Amino acid sequence: MIQTAPRFHESELPDLTYDTPVLVTERLVLRPPHSDDADELAAIANNRQITEMTSRMPFPYRMSDAQEFLARCVDGEHDGYIYAVTLADTGHLIGFTGLELRQRSGGFEIGFWLGEAYWGLGYATEAANAVIDQAFRSTGAEVVHAVCRTVNPASRNVLVKCGFTFIGLDEIDTVSAGRVPVERYTLNRASWFARKER
Ligand SMILES: CC(C)(COP(=O)(O)OP(=O)(O)OC[C@H]1O[C@@H](n2cnc3c(N)ncnc32)[C@H](O)[C@@H]1OP(=O)(O)O)[C@@H](O)C(=O)NCCC(=O)NCCS
Repeated sequence: MIQTAPRFHESELPDLTYDTPVLVTERLVLRPPHSDDADELAAIANNRQITEMTSRMPFPYRMSDAQEFLARCVDGEHDGYIYAVTLADTGHLIGFTGLELRQRSGGFEIGFWLGEAYWGLGYATEAANAVIDQAFRSTGAEVVHAVCRTVNPASRNVLVKCGFTFIGLDEIDTVSAGRVPVERYTLNRASWFARKER
């Protein structure tokens, strides 16, 4: 089943300011990216297993790609929140996460990726939960959307562990992998709140 994503209307968008407060979790610090992150970003992002699972990361991922991405973050050009995910104990950059208003989803869409050395340790779930809390606490958003490739069980597991519900299949265009089938997920405010109450 291929479902077409809803188009969003300006009137439906939450009222937002994109202050990006630092978010602290048990093991991570999520902070606004800065230009000094370029070396670490270029080093961990130049991995086809990462770029092909995202919609906009090119492969190879060069220093110039890192610099351009960080410049857009610093200039506030992303329509949402972009966080550098760092280890609380060392400050090392291990990946990125964020929430952006995406036409293809019809609202806020969460995204995340980590350097391969940091997979399998629960960091993505920890970071995603912090960003989801931020979305529902700091904005009027009623729903957070997510998209993951059908061939990405790790991402699917992160979404399910964060409480997302599968809503259907779709296709998207990606920079590294072309047009690919994806699964769409949503988490609404009521479900998020119910999980917090448990
Ligand atoms: C997806 C990604 C962020 C997950 O990061 P992570 O820190 O390893 O995720 P977590 O450890 O929080 O959770 C991953 C879950 O998937 C499971 N998992 C990982 N690889 C898996 C696989 N190949 N098959 C099935 N399950 C898998 C893990 O066991 C874990 O579940 P568990 O806690 O029940 O054991 C990371 O793999 C990544 O950056 N991948 C490339 C980019 C990407 O896919 N981004 C998402 C785009 S939608």
